[in-house]
Amino acid sequence: MMMNKRKIIRFKDIGDVRGGLISLEEEENIPFIIKRVYFLYNPNTEMSRGFHAHKKLEQVVVCLKGKCRFILDDGIERISYELNKPTEGLYIGNNEWREMHDFSDDCVLAVIASEKYDESDYIRDYKTFKSNV
Ligand code: TYD
Repeated sequence: MMMNKRKIIRFKDIGDVRGGLISLEEEENIPFIIKRVYFLYNPNTEMSRGFHAHKKLEQVVVCLKGKCRFILDDGIERISYELNKPTEGLYIGNNEWREMHDFSDDCVLAVIASEKYDESDYIRDYKTFKSNV
């Protein structure tokens, strides 16, 4: 499972009468080797975040609770995605500008990442991003 474009990945819910259960496995329903997982929670609902692209990093974002809206921009097309269920993940390839807006109070995002944290992988200036795509 290799990919390089933005895409919603639908996860199979393997839960039963006791409740839902989703399992994420590298190179199965996550299209890369998992090097890092981080959470965004207790959002300041007045604020947006993101506003950067990555040179190399690929991510899958899963909204475990609540909702938020992602904007992905590959330099050609800007698409908005509302994330509001744990049964789907938003795959974000490299060289995609991302913004996160409209967090609900209870929003919890799990982010599955292909690389450890590396500040030098960030492109934080939109003009620089645009001139590289
Ligand atoms: P940042 O990626 O800028 O947040 P967002 O894109 O969600 O607005 O991260 C905020 C700060 O946290 C920044 O100083 C980098 C640091 N950070 C880490 O140290 N490790 C991590 O895994 C992440 C995602 C961020």
